[in-house]
Amino acid sequence: MATKDTKVRPVRVGVVGVGGAGEVHVKAYKALPGVEIVAVSDASGPRVDLIKTTYNIANGHTDWNELVERDDIDVISIATPNYLHMPVAVAALNAGKHVLSEKPLARSSAEGQAMVDAAEANDRVLGVSFNHRYRGDVSILKQVIDAGTLGSVYYAKAYWMRRQGVPFWGGWFSKHELAGGGPMIDLGVHMLDMTLYLLGEPEPTSVSAAVYSELAPRGRGSLHPLQGEFDVEDLSTAFVRLAGGGTLLLEASWAGYGHQMDDFGVELFGTDAGAQLDNREWKNTDTLRIFTDIAGVPTISTPRVDRMGENEGHVGAIRDFLDVVLGDPAEWKHHRGRAGLKRARIIEAAYQSAKENREIVLK
Ligand SMILES: NC(=O)c1ccc[n+]([C@@H]2O[C@H](COP(=O)([O-])OP(=O)(O)OC[C@H]3O[C@@H](n4cnc5c(N)ncnc54)[C@H](O)[C@@H]3O)[C@@H](O)[C@H]2O)c1
Repeated sequence: MATKDTKVRPVRVGVVGVGGAGEVHVKAYKALPGVEIVAVSDASGPRVDLIKTTYNIANGHTDWNELVERDDIDVISIATPNYLHMPVAVAALNAGKHVLSEKPLARSSAEGQAMVDAAEANDRVLGVSFNHRYRGDVSILKQVIDAGTLGSVYYAKAYWMRRQGVPFWGGWFSKHELAGGGPMIDLGVHMLDMTLYLLGEPEPTSVSAAVYSELAPRGRGSLHPLQGEFDVEDLSTAFVRLAGGGTLLLEASWAGYGHQMDDFGVELFGTDAGAQLDNREWKNTDTLRIFTDIAGVPTISTPRVDRMGENEGHVGAIRDFLDVVLGDPAEWKHHRGRAGLKRARIIEAAYQSAKENREIVLK
């Protein structure tokens, strides 16, 4: 079992689920000093073999329980389909491991709560991989907000809109039972995280939302052959009230006839200035604008985002997670996955609101 002496490097890591995101975790751990990836697990044996060989990893398991039970692992990353985040995390935390889960924390707040409770009960760290916080433009915008340049931000619009981005048809992403939802839980959660992070974690008080599934069930909106089940939304919009009177409009789509193929960003309206972070088609250039008045004249500033070089993504998320794990154990109690749970509660309320056609008040 991993103990509080995990301060001693190397940190011994296991990665459960080594598909697209899991391989990104493997690469990120490999990019950090003092980390040894001891084992990977995937339901697909050939995939386990490929990742082991490509990244020179000694051990592989097709049953994740075997990886969790290993006593030579301190930290487990979970990058499985969403429905497995909770069972793998709870088992890993109960086995004394620290856990980094891919987003979303879980399909529901009940699952998320079980994960937070297990982290609490075992005094372990539970992190969630919100890698888009680690963009260079986000860190500059955070600096601008924290310096008070925008004044008090009272309205935010956040979006991740794809025109033709339904993930692999018939795969787990498009099945409610396996994913917990469509683009709102997949993409919206990233922009929800970005906005709440930028605004200093305001508490949500209520959510009103609508979801649509107009294109995907008719075979539109995907680059992939269309077959199998699709029982989630393909476009969603939510209006979130925040404590203190602020509001957030959150939109997410995999498919929809908009001007964009793949755009994400956030627009902020403050009492002294506004800001827009808008990333179109992953160009990652000229993404940030600040709107102010200079001598009464509306002015647009474009901060130099040469810190896009610090666009760290998963490396930043994993480095911060490991810093907590290797830091003062007295601080672990501040890192039990509660930020992920807060986002899960908002998204769950959005789906409930859409289903019941009413505003959901969050307690
Ligand atoms: N942060 C990001 O930018 C980002 C990007 C993509 C995906 N994700 C998240 O990562 C997770 C995985 O998404 P993905 O795109 O990599 O999906 P994927 O389908 O590419 O990979 C999932 C992997 O999990 C494996 N798997 C399935 N059942 C398993 C089991 N019982 N035990 C072990 N492995 C099992 C599959 O074989 C597959 O290799 C999801 O939670 C998703 O939301 C995050």
